[in-house]
Amino acid sequence: MKITYHGHSCVQIEVNGKSLIIDPFISGNAAAVTKVEEIKTDAVLLTHAHMDHILDAAPIAKSNNAPVVAIVELAGYLESTGVQTIGMNIGGTVDLGFAKATMIHAFHTSSITLEDGQSIYGGTPAGFIIEAEGRTILHAGDTGLFGDLKMFGELYEIDLAILPIGGHFTMGPEHALIAAKWLGARQVLPVHYNTFPPIRQDAGAFVQALEEAGIRGSALGYGETLEL
Ligand code: NI
Ligand code: MN
Repeated sequence: MKITYHGHSCVQIEVNGKSLIIDPFISGNAAAVTKVEEIKTDAVLLTHAHMDHILDAAPIAKSNNAPVVAIVELAGYLESTGVQTIGMNIGGTVDLGFAKATMIHAFHTSSITLEDGQSIYGGTPAGFIIEAEGRTILHAGDTGLFGDLKMFGELYEIDLAILPIGGHFTMGPEHALIAAKWLGARQVLPVHYNTFPPIRQDAGAFVQALEEAGIRGSALGYGETLEL
C-alpha cells in the first residue's frame, strides 16, 4: 500500500492497483507539485465542505468517472452540480471494493461557500478510517482534540494516523501528539500545516516529539510517498 502526500490535507492511498484520494486541494495550493489533470483515482473522499478540502473534488471525480464519498449534505450539493456521489453519515462504512471507508466524527465546522459568498449547511465535519490489505489508516480531517480518539484507539489497530498539526483552525502539534498516543498509532503523517501563514509549524520538531514517545513520524514533502 502506497500513501502519497499532495499537500495540505490531501493524501492518495494506492492499493491493489486502485486508489482513493482524500480532500483534494491542489490547484489552490501554490506549493503543489502535482497537477489536478494528472490525478488518476477510483474514488474521492471528503472530510468536510471547506474549500481547502473540496476545491478539486468535482474536476477529479468527473475526469476519472469516480464517485465522491461525503456526508449526505455535501454529497447532495455536489450531486446537484453533476458529480457522481456516495452520500453517507457518521458511523457508516462504504465498501469501495478495494478498500472500506468508515466515517467518524470530528470537532470542527463545515459549510459550503457559494460563489456569491453565502454559506450553506454542509453537514457535520468528519474523518475516515480506511481499511485495506489488512492495514488501517485514520485520516482525522480537520479537528480539535477530543476524547473519543481514545475509543478509536481501542477499537482499531491503527497503522497510520493522518493528523492536522497546523493549529489555529485545527489542533496544533501538542494536541496532535496526545491524539497520536490516544489512537495508539504506529506511525503518524502530519498534515494541514504551512499552507497558509496562520498554520505555520515545525514538522521536524513534531516528528521528534513523536519519536520520543515511541511513535514513528513521517513528515512527507509534497509528492512524497510512504509504503505501509
Ligand atoms: Ni476546515
Ligand atoms: Mn481545513
